Amino acid sequence: AQARPPGAREASLSQSGPSVSSLPSCFLSSDRDASRQVLAILYRGGEAAQQEPRLLGTIENQLGIRSWLESQGHEFIVSDDKEGPNSDFQKHIVDAEVLITTPFHPGYLTRDLVEKAKNLKLCVTAGVGSDHVDLNACVEKGIQVLEVTGSNVVSVAEHVVMSILLLVRNFVPAHEMIERGDWMVSEVARNAYDLEGKVVGTIGCGRIGYRVLQRLTPFNCKELLYFDYADLPPDAAKAISARRVADLKEMVAQCDIVTVNAPLHEGTRGLVNADLLKHFKKGAWLVNTARGAICDKDAVAAALKSGQINGYAGDVWNVQPAPKDHPWRTMKNPIGGGNGMVPHYSGTTLDAQARYAAGTKQIIENYFSDLPQEPANIIVGKGKYESKAYGQR
Ligand code: NAI
Repeated sequence: AQARPPGAREASLSQSGPSVSSLPSCFLSSDRDASRQVLAILYRGGEAAQQEPRLLGTIENQLGIRSWLESQGHEFIVSDDKEGPNSDFQKHIVDAEVLITTPFHPGYLTRDLVEKAKNLKLCVTAGVGSDHVDLNACVEKGIQVLEVTGSNVVSVAEHVVMSILLLVRNFVPAHEMIERGDWMVSEVARNAYDLEGKVVGTIGCGRIGYRVLQRLTPFNCKELLYFDYADLPPDAAKAISARRVADLKEMVAQCDIVTVNAPLHEGTRGLVNADLLKHFKKGAWLVNTARGAICDKDAVAAALKSGQINGYAGDVWNVQPAPKDHPWRTMKNPIGGGNGMVPHYSGTTLDAQARYAAGTKQIIENYFSDLPQEPANIIVGKGKYESKAYGQR
């Protein structure tokens, strides 16, 4: 039997069903001042979440923290309803002291909402990546922003390696052919290659980017390259024989495969645009599990359609959920393949959910107990950026 992750028992005892579940007033602490309001915007898990309590990031299973928060007398409001002025998110952000969001179903905390959030002191991203929060506005208002750093970096790195392989091997069209009942080897083999001997480069070589390159070393790639502000520590670079390229255009021009592993911020929004795509080797593959808005939607679709790139894969979209007519859902290369897009789930494996749920609880516990936070988790501290990941400031 599989080990139950932390929080699973609590999750199975928690309330489920309605989109908003708040603590009945009879259960509130009699000392109203001690009660703090925690608002969580999570994704709807539906039947899957009823059947699988380890789906902790859902409105049904509520990160497994409801009974813990309630036992302390706090009010916990959970919803997936996040868009528009009448949404639960916009209604409850006015009074919430702690906001929990996830990158998978992002509650977009815009500057306007920060202005309305008169009690907000702490934003916790259950996962990694806080670009859905207006970080500059939080700096100005003294609202802290923390992530569960490292909680899903292996999950994403594995997904990147899988996506690289499925593009290079032309896996998706081959599988679709089998489902259709067809069998025409040449149709799929005409665009299938080995990963061995190829040059792979990552834009951003932090926790995920490094782990991607590390996981590629047994494939005997020709070279592993990275573009980042900073050099890797010499022993880390040596361990994977990675070479830093200081100019992004120069790096992509050398790569058969480019993978994006940098956070979304002012310096990366639209970074992979029509101009940069022209510098890619013709027929290169591009994998982006970082953030949809780092790659220009229309420029990527056009580059794939023309064959300038041979494939695009990833799980992140601008915006989420992605509209039904988003071109990345159906775009193809000139011979009808090259699309490895999935919904945003690489960082929300059941293993990752156990880690980010436990990390979220720890951050809130530290906050309520006035204990110091893990420094690596702090994106925005009291009135200033603590992390360099969101741009050099
Ligand atoms: P990290 O902070 O460890 O590494 C990010 C790296 O990107 C740093 O080395 C930083 O210097 C670099 N960077 C920042 N701006 C850059 C720029 N303009 N050009 C080149 N490099 C730049 O972060 P980690 O854990 O590796 O995560 C990276 C991102 O991946 C997250 O911010 C998030 O957006 C995304 N992510 C996606 C997930 C998913 O489920 N698809 C899950 C987890 C993270």
